[in-house]
This record gives sequence, C-alpha cells and structure tokens, in this order.
Amino acid sequence: MQTYLFSDCEDYAKPKVVNVASVPLRSPFRYPGGKTWFVPRLREWIQSKDCKPKLLIEPFAGGGIISLTAVFEKLVDSALMVELDEDIASVWKTVIGGDAEWLSNRILNFSMTKENVIKEVNIQTSCIKQIAFQTIIKNRAFHGGILAPGSGFLKNGEAGKGISSRWYPATLAKRLREINLVRNRLKFEHTDAFAMLKKYRNEENVVFFIDPPYTAGGKNAGKRLYKHYELDHDLLFRYCSKLRGDFIMTYDNAPEVKELARRNGLVVKPIAMKNTHHAEMTELVIGRNLSWMEGIERALEEQAKYKSS
Ligand SMILES: C[S@@+](CC[C@H](N)C(=O)[O-])C[C@H]1O[C@@H](n2cnc3c(N)ncnc32)[C@H](O)[C@@H]1O
Repeated sequence: MQTYLFSDCEDYAKPKVVNVASVPLRSPFRYPGGKTWFVPRLREWIQSKDCKPKLLIEPFAGGGIISLTAVFEKLVDSALMVELDEDIASVWKTVIGGDAEWLSNRILNFSMTKENVIKEVNIQTSCIKQIAFQTIIKNRAFHGGILAPGSGFLKNGEAGKGISSRWYPATLAKRLREINLVRNRLKFEHTDAFAMLKKYRNEENVVFFIDPPYTAGGKNAGKRLYKHYELDHDLLFRYCSKLRGDFIMTYDNAPEVKELARRNGLVVKPIAMKNTHHAEMTELVIGRNLSWMEGIERALEEQAKYKSS
C-alpha cells in the first residue's frame, strides 16, 4: 500500500546503516548535490520493473552519475542527459561528441598550480572543447566543486595540498575514456528541462530521474550551488504528474515540497543520507508509485564514502 509521506509526521524510525554499497564513481565532475549516494536506489527502482526501460531521461543532469550508472550497468538501453549550464554542457558535448581522448590528454598534461589554473580559466574562447577543459579545472580547483558565480579557489584543500588537492588526472582520464566506450548509448541536450519533459511526455518505456535545484519555497541552498537555480517548482510537479513514463524526483525535505506532491497526487518517501559535512539529513523521493521502496529500510548512505571523487 502506498502511504502519503510521513506527511506531517516526522517520527519515523531512526535510519540505520543498511547499505553502504560499493558504487563505482564514474562522473568526471565532483558535483554539488550529486546523487552518487542514490545509485543503490536507482538500481532497485529500475530492476523492479517488468521490462527494461529503453531510455532514461535525466532533465537536470549536472554530474550525470545516474545516467552514467544506468548505461554502464545496462539498466536501460540508453540515457539522455539534459542540462542548462553551458559550462557543464561543454563537458558532456565534448565527451559524448567523441573528444574524450583529447580532453583526457589535456588533463594528463596539465600542471595544476594556482598560476596555471588562473591563466587557463581566463582564456577567452568559444571552442567547446577548450571550455570543457576549463570547466573540469574549475570544478576541481573551486571550493566544493561549485561553478556558480561567487565560487572561490580551494584554500587549504586536503592535507594542505591546496588547489591540487582534488586533482586526480589519471582517475579523470580513466573515467573519460570509459565513458567514451559507452558514448553511443548516451545523448546530451543543452536545453531546458521543461522542453524535454514536454517532448517525451507521451513516450512509453521511458523513465525519468528528476533532481532539480532545491529552491522550492524560496530556499537558498541551491542558489549558491548552481548558475541556474530559478525554477517553477509548481510547474515541474504538474509536468511530472502528466508523464506517461514512470519517474522519480528527489528533493529536500521541505513542507512546500510535500505540499506540491500532495496536490499532484504523488507519493513521497523519506530517505536518509549524509551530506558533505557528514550531517545526517533526510531527502525526499517522490513518484507515482514507490512500492519498490517498501522492502527497503531507510538506508543511510555515506556521502563521505564518495568524498574523494
Ligand atoms: C541538483 S543538480 C543535479 C545534480 C545531479 N543529479 C548529479 O548527480 O550530479 C541540478 C542541476 O539542474 C541544472 N538546472 C537548473 N535549472 C535547469 C533547467 N531549467 N533545465 C535544465 N537544467 C537545469 C543545474 O545547472 C544543476 O546542474
């Protein structure tokens, strides 16, 4: 039986560590709000279906871990990633467009000093590959991987290594080369999530993983993290509730979000995770039917496990 959230009631059982699954880190990004911790749930959701979905659509792709995992693990035939941020888009266009090897070589040959980073990211260019390289550097050199305006360089970083403390060139090159091997099963659109939701709303055998910036109810968190943070959440819920394909949304645990779900006849379940500061938090999983979650204890995914991504 589907239950409406723990709607107004917060006294659900304290989450236990039940599944610190090993999740392959596949994204070239260290992405704020990244959903690596959600991967075990993604597997359960897709595997609960009678038929394997043809296509997974990720309208707010960011670092794309969900699409990448779905394709690598053959949970779906192919995935479509959608993202509005042009810096992020340049990376996906480069890799999916066949220039992963070029990008890998640039990364392997770059000497990560503050001076080199400043010089490189200040080069004015309209070349997509070059913007992709600049984006990877910024994502690794900026505090929290944050690419939004106002973000600043890592100061002390890990073990006092400063700006290079998140620079793992061999790992990045390996990830890019692996993505290159499955790129014929990945598509990317640099466009608005709503346009894609509309385009695919009547498609059968398509599933959607929807992870928007958490700015419902005027929340500020998402503003600091993303260049594109403004979103009509009300409209997003209305679009989702009309999709023919199955979908899940992930959101922060905010009363406005639960209300939007309730108004659109959707089911909400809490899921516990640890954020990058190791604080235990509850996020929400929202969908039309979350019965696949019923056997699952509220898993406490250790975000900390992924911190060296
Ligand atoms: C919470 S993040 C997604 C994180 C992603 N699930 C991951 O694991 O890395 C939300 C993303 O949505 C993007 N975004 C914001 N508004 C958008 C829109 N209207 N259309 C497409 N992407 C948008 C932001 O740039 C940001 O990258």
